[in-house]
Amino acid sequence: MSSSTWAIETRGITRVFESRKGFLFREATRTEALRGIDLTVERGAIFGLLGPNGAGKTTLTKILSTLLLPTGGTARVLGHDVVREAGYLRPRMGLVLGGERGLYNRVSGRENLRYFADLYGIPLAERDRRISEVLARVDLEGAADRRVEEYSRGMKQKLHIARGILHRPEILFLDEPTIGLDPKSARETRKLVRSLLADGVTIFLTTHYMFEAEELCPELAILSKGRIVARDTVARLRQLVGGDRTLEAEAYGFEDREIDVLRHLPGVSKVLNEEFGPVSRLTIRVRTEETRPDALREILLPGHPEVAVRERRTSLEDVYLDLVEEEAR
Ligand SMILES: Nc1ncnc2c1ncn2[C@@H]1O[C@H](COP(=O)(O)OP(=O)(O)OP(=O)(O)O)[C@@H](O)[C@H]1O
Ligand SMILES: [Mg+2]
Repeated sequence: MSSSTWAIETRGITRVFESRKGFLFREATRTEALRGIDLTVERGAIFGLLGPNGAGKTTLTKILSTLLLPTGGTARVLGHDVVREAGYLRPRMGLVLGGERGLYNRVSGRENLRYFADLYGIPLAERDRRISEVLARVDLEGAADRRVEEYSRGMKQKLHIARGILHRPEILFLDEPTIGLDPKSARETRKLVRSLLADGVTIFLTTHYMFEAEELCPELAILSKGRIVARDTVARLRQLVGGDRTLEAEAYGFEDREIDVLRHLPGVSKVLNEEFGPVSRLTIRVRTEETRPDALREILLPGHPEVAVRERRTSLEDVYLDLVEEEAR
């Protein structure tokens, strides 16, 4: 594919933050927020970036949306360089960082959007119609003329998204669009994201929530400490960590010998032993075509008649935790 067919294409993006800490003894600190990001995202797709706190998700989102300069490497969005062609790109992208910032609390939602429409250079003749359209889209028509300071968190988030799509961007960056929302508002937001995708908008989304990524994003990348530790479909990520089923067994202390037996069974890729006071929990990842979960139960039962075993499909969350843990080791 030629580079312009990608919605996003980065090569070796790095970002270092240098700051000073302390009052009397000012100590220089250096944070490598991004340590060489190579990433491609197809046009018209929805791509999810997952990672724990401090992984670098917001930093990468800001670089791709021209808000922040990279320290090294190159990034192209819609075929254009985010540093050299920022002016070309800005009107073509939308960015939703969320939170309390960036909205005018003293005026209504509609007035906020008027202000941003002028900023985006939306022609006056079209402005109010366009605003009504996006307000309907985010389901905020009823509250459009109330002051933003009276809005709930969910309503503010909707207004942020309305602002992000007002100028009909070709690509939309959403940094944790559902954080702090109640389940109903979060679900509505995800529905809205899907409807934007149906319009052909490319969506780049960051999240902490595995199920959200699983629900919205056919493909995703996991970021940990400034590096992409995995980039794949949900199904293949599950395979990558090994095992389609996860068993959790709880009992009063497991012996090393037992754990060793489990570890050496065919198809078992991971056995994690955690202690919670007197109770221990084993987390066992197993490929069912090689070993049935019942076989594991049978191994544990003689020594632990009290054992409680739960079995579930390996979730994206398991995969994620494994990968992030591996990176931390
Ligand atoms: N302006 C800044 N000055 C100094 N350090 C920064 C700055 N912005 C980010 N960092 C550091 O860079 C790293 C990545 O931060 P970033 O905000 O990108 O993470 P994140 O994945 O978005 O985390 P979260 O899930 O908490 O939002 C962190 O260690 C953070 O402390
Ligand atoms: Mg962030």
